[in-house]
Amino acid sequence: MPVTYAVANQKGGVAKTTTVHALGAALAEQGRRVLLVDLDPQGCLTFSLGLDPNALDKSLHDVFVHRVPATEVLLKVGEVHVLPASIDLAGAEVHLLTRPGREYALSRALDPIKSDYDVVLIDCPPSLGVLTINGLTAADEILVPLQCETLSHRGVGQLLETIEDVKSYTNPALKVRGVVATMFDSRTRLGREVLDDVRTRYGVTVLEPPVPKSVRVAEAPGRGRSVLEHAARSSSAEAYRQLAASLEVAVA
Ligand SMILES: Nc1ncnc2c1ncn2[C@@H]1O[C@H](COP(=O)(O)OP(=O)(O)OP(=O)(O)O)[C@@H](O)[C@H]1O
Ligand SMILES: [Mg+2]
Repeated sequence: MPVTYAVANQKGGVAKTTTVHALGAALAEQGRRVLLVDLDPQGCLTFSLGLDPNALDKSLHDVFVHRVPATEVLLKVGEVHVLPASIDLAGAEVHLLTRPGREYALSRALDPIKSDYDVVLIDCPPSLGVLTINGLTAADEILVPLQCETLSHRGVGQLLETIEDVKSYTNPALKVRGVVATMFDSRTRLGREVLDDVRTRYGVTVLEPPVPKSVRVAEAPGRGRSVLEHAARSSSAEAYRQLAASLEVAVA
């Protein structure tokens, strides 16, 4: 069975989507069979992969609302597979709220296809609503991208509380794998200070290395590629490769 990671932080713009895409590309480079899940109605991961979220035949919305099997929604992009999102997913959120077992919709959808992969990466939306709870319920471990700037730790406490709730209600085995330091500026001491603060305040692991801030990363989504393809030798691509290797995902 694969390892399933939910990449979550309710704070917006901290590089959740970038991290899912780049780690997915790195793990594929390292010979792993990778499934990416776009759980955000904004469809940014879907778009970053070079797909048009508005032109999809089917998306996760159909899986959640019309109970379409995930196999009918899966798309292959380069070396990875993706369950794409479209804006309809926002409607699925409302639909799920009225349904018993709503926290398990993603977990159930993944069950029949999981064994085809070594690793599943779930891109959660910037909220702690029912979609993110679905992501946390379907996951084995959580990666928390954190932009290393003043006040970025605010919200981590609330995220950890939600994780505790998910552990008590739907997924007792869930683990916080660690913080991924994103958009890191090594020229100042602030970044390291923020990471030390988060480590001592919340007792979470900070994964190494931090991902440097680089315009090469910011350019990549517009090209429909991850930074590993867009700027293969950049320090940010290299950081994501090292992070991916540190996860030690087994090959089935
Ligand atoms: N290492 C980096 N260097 C420079 N820019 C980056 C880096 N990582 C991410 N970005 C840029 O920061 C912005 C936010 O990243 P991203 O969309 O991945 O965040 P997110 O947490 O998924 O956002 P949301 O909460 O809206 O889903 C994007 O424009 C992305 O290209
Ligand atoms: Mg995102």
